[in-house]
Amino acid sequence: MSETLAGLRKSHGCGDLRATDAGKQVTIMGWVQKRRDHGGLVFVDLRDRSGLVQVVLNPEGGEEAFQKADKVRNEFVLAVVGTVCQRPEGTVNVNLPTGEIEVKASEMRILNKSKTPPFYIEDNVDCDEIMRLKYRYLDLRRPEMQKNLILRHKVTMAMREYLDEHGFLEIETPMLGRSTPEGARDYLVPSRVHPGEFYALPQSPQQYKQILMVSGMERYFQIARCFRDEDLRADRQPEFTQLDIEMSFIEREQLYELMENMIAYIFKKTLGREVKTPFLRLPYAEAMGRFGSDKPDLRFGMELKEVTDIAKESQFQVFASIAANGGQVKGINAEGCAKYSRKDIDDLTKVAGIYGAKGLAYFIVEENGVKSPIAKFFAEEQIKEICTRLEAKPGDLLLFVAADPYTVADSLGHLRLEIAKRENLQDPDELNFLWVTDFPLFEFSKEENRWTAMHHPFTSPRDEDLPYMDTDPGRVIAKAYDMVLNGVELGGGSIRIFNRDVQEKMFSVLGIGKEESQEKFGFMLEAFEYGTPPHGGIAFGLDRMIMLMNHRDSIRDVIAFPKTQSAADMMTQAPGEVDAKQLKELSIQTVVPDMDKNKK
Ligand code: AMO
Ligand code: AMP
Repeated sequence: MSETLAGLRKSHGCGDLRATDAGKQVTIMGWVQKRRDHGGLVFVDLRDRSGLVQVVLNPEGGEEAFQKADKVRNEFVLAVVGTVCQRPEGTVNVNLPTGEIEVKASEMRILNKSKTPPFYIEDNVDCDEIMRLKYRYLDLRRPEMQKNLILRHKVTMAMREYLDEHGFLEIETPMLGRSTPEGARDYLVPSRVHPGEFYALPQSPQQYKQILMVSGMERYFQIARCFRDEDLRADRQPEFTQLDIEMSFIEREQLYELMENMIAYIFKKTLGREVKTPFLRLPYAEAMGRFGSDKPDLRFGMELKEVTDIAKESQFQVFASIAANGGQVKGINAEGCAKYSRKDIDDLTKVAGIYGAKGLAYFIVEENGVKSPIAKFFAEEQIKEICTRLEAKPGDLLLFVAADPYTVADSLGHLRLEIAKRENLQDPDELNFLWVTDFPLFEFSKEENRWTAMHHPFTSPRDEDLPYMDTDPGRVIAKAYDMVLNGVELGGGSIRIFNRDVQEKMFSVLGIGKEESQEKFGFMLEAFEYGTPPHGGIAFGLDRMIMLMNHRDSIRDVIAFPKTQSAADMMTQAPGEVDAKQLKELSIQTVVPDMDKNKK
């Protein structure tokens, strides 16, 4: 039988007790981490959200409590009344914040029992993640998981403080709405009262927040849940949280400043860390050219260097012909990596291959020249010039890709990261923030054979590029920006189109006809005719931010109840089938191909 709380009040967190509390009578409550029986003496480590404390039970302290201690097992829920005492000389545990003291129990109640958990409730458990997700309530008892959720809470509090201080209003927008074009598939919700019609869960509150600017709210924010049915990765979930922001009467620089200061405020307040502002602003073209990425990790160098002109003059046919046909040849210097084996280089070639490179050429730099299967195709002067450009010194490994500019950037960009990982070049404690600016407004989709919006269709072109909207969409630069931290895209946004004509032109370049734009975005086009202020905004991935702040590898670790790679909730078993009656009410029939049955 479990006992009740009757008459007891928790006075302290287990982990909050210190030597200065010695002599105090306390009532603590929590879960049993461990019980150690030394015959006439039993130790119980009691844990709650605040930490762990050692409880001592012996017949002198409380006979009844001591007797009960026999029954106690891991994860039982206890209430202990006792006295805080200094630990005897030689038994202090310096690894535990409460390690100088212990609680001598005079009374103990077993408030609840527990089955033996499927894994230990402690940090760094060696346990399959599926198991952790199935028993998430136990997983979340682990201190490192509690630390993640506590930080998450503190960060959202700090965001609210800063934004409130700067005149932002927190406004909720609907979950049941129309589709927002953020580029992923929608999650749909059938309407019962409008048979055959569906709401879309928001991919972001984009249109609503812009409409709020038309309404004169001037500064809006929301900690908003977003839904995107897309392929999942370690930093993507089907439902995730954005800190969503929109402002009126603002240009890029003012927005950058406000947001940098917000980030600095959050990091200072929650982690006690200084963030240096202003952040570097790096135009997209330069980011791609120098680092092969639109979210470059600038904690290390290893920049891409162009050698197309030299390659063109060489006798190496692959390079010469790609260079002569509008392609590019670029290289990176993996400093000190001449030690790499054949197999290492084969592995790197495979990495480059994933991103489209047809091969990976290399120079091993030695005291008197380079070692390479292709060295014979280059004159000595050419090799010297390449080495100078790549700032090569003996012991370095130079890697080259020849291809179209996008493939060169993408493959060398990823190789750069791969080598940084192998060589430990990414200091986990550094905070390297930057803005990537001046994104192209459009990108050409080969599959769809049309221009698509690189950010979203409400993003404004630069004023000077307006004339090229219809004539040369590829050269139009957008007033769009991303904030990047240590190679991860933390947030993205843009200054918006606020004029009906430009918005219609945008839709037409995207191949969205008058009728379709009227059908989907008519409300917005109409709103734009009632005095829309110039406005812009940004959204940060809250989950990603917490992940980076706590050095986690997966956003699943900073979300209380995340989903698996196949968008399933292991604990509740969602998604699940529904009653035929429910489907009928919703005027829905399902047709499931055989191979998809039983798949989760
Ligand atoms: P965007 O689509 O760039 O912009 O999203 C903004 C930020 O949200 C985070 N994010 C995600 N996090 C976890 N899982 C996902 N599936 C996921 N998708 C995106 C990223 C990203 O930088 N409405 C615009 C913002 C604007 O223009 O103001 C938008 O949603 O950190
Ligand atoms: P091959 O002449 O095909 O044997 O290639 C000689 C070397 O050049 C090999 O190391 C290839 O990996 C490399 N190579 C081939 N094509 C390319 C390319 N497009 N870019 C970079 N290196 C390449």
